[in-house]
Amino acid sequence: MSAVLTVHKQSIAELIADQKSGYSLDQRFYADPDVYELEIERIINRNWILAGHVSQLPEPGDFKVLKVARESAIIVRGTNGDLKAFANVCRHRGSLVCLESDGHADKFACPYHGWTYDIDGKLYAARNMPDDFDMTAHSLKPVSVDTIHGLIFVCFTDTPASLDGAKRDLAEPMAMFGFESLKVAAQKSYEIPANWKLSIENYQECYHCATAHPEYARMHTLMLDRDKRERVQGKMQDKMGACGVKDIFFDYIDTAARPGEMGYGYSRTALFDRYKTGSKDGGPVAPLLGDFTDYDGGASDFSLGAFSFLLAYSDHVVGYVFTPIDHNTSNCEIYWLVRGDAEEGQDYDVDALTWLWDITTQSDKEIIVNNSKGVHSKYYQPGPFSGMERAERIYIEWILQELQRP
Ligand code: FES
Ligand SMILES: [Fe+2]
Repeated sequence: MSAVLTVHKQSIAELIADQKSGYSLDQRFYADPDVYELEIERIINRNWILAGHVSQLPEPGDFKVLKVARESAIIVRGTNGDLKAFANVCRHRGSLVCLESDGHADKFACPYHGWTYDIDGKLYAARNMPDDFDMTAHSLKPVSVDTIHGLIFVCFTDTPASLDGAKRDLAEPMAMFGFESLKVAAQKSYEIPANWKLSIENYQECYHCATAHPEYARMHTLMLDRDKRERVQGKMQDKMGACGVKDIFFDYIDTAARPGEMGYGYSRTALFDRYKTGSKDGGPVAPLLGDFTDYDGGASDFSLGAFSFLLAYSDHVVGYVFTPIDHNTSNCEIYWLVRGDAEEGQDYDVDALTWLWDITTQSDKEIIVNNSKGVHSKYYQPGPFSGMERAERIYIEWILQELQRP
């Protein structure tokens, strides 16, 4: 008689209840496909994701595609000039309709049997269909889309969190940088073979910066201890007024978000003395943004929901969007934004502009992948967070909170 082996797998509710506060997540949060399924339902499809800047789609028919986990949205400037988003899923038998990542279209023709949709998502041609076939009932399905002062956000649910608080409170800091009239000078994707949470957790903490990012660490002060940081911060605050910069702070991030609203936050942190901006030698890499009249030697962090973050220097903005591809692969999309009227070759050089965050993201990718390998080992055990991993700890608390929200 063979022995019967019964393995009791904890339910996800039990797993969450057992998660020790102040410790990294249990292995199953990264490795178990059931957890990923629940994340898709309760986190990934429920939250707003940064999809670009309005300047990328100036004319009717200009489009770009955003892919997140199993979903794909076509974001397009419609005939009346409004931004629209549609599920990139054909209403015939479900093929992806648009296979390009961006461009200009008069219409979208499905590559499978040729059903064709106009730029407002309406079905416009379908061959050999019965006489009573109702074209009007087969438009592409709408996906939620909105903008926050020039930034395009997409959400894969019809009942997304409100953006009102973010639009209202971020109006002032975003106007300071002239967000509405920025343009994308460069955009790059980094595919990271690791669970999406490991990628975002890495972005949330700077405990690793001193060891992993010599380039970043030489200009950013986030990894300093409190006293030293307050001293450099004070120096920047003294300069801000004269540079046209207001001292603003908001923290409605993650667990601090107001009920029913997308979480968001804003703060500005000093760079080391000789750095005007995030560049190789600390010198300017683009014309000053918005209301800035001079360099205050600071960099602002914007947190916009669960997947999107911005770092705004005085002369350029770097946007980071971390999204799952599948449960073991994530994508980091980086946008480099400059003034809308800045000219490439004259006012900025793409290599100089992208140098810091390209090199930093490549080293992040490496440490995230190493992290992922260890997390999948049978010897992995959740470890305690340091004082410098506060934002990551709060992010994890938010994840656990959202996984339990029906
Ligand atoms: S699946 Fe698109 S036309 Fe058939
Ligand atoms: Fe990093």
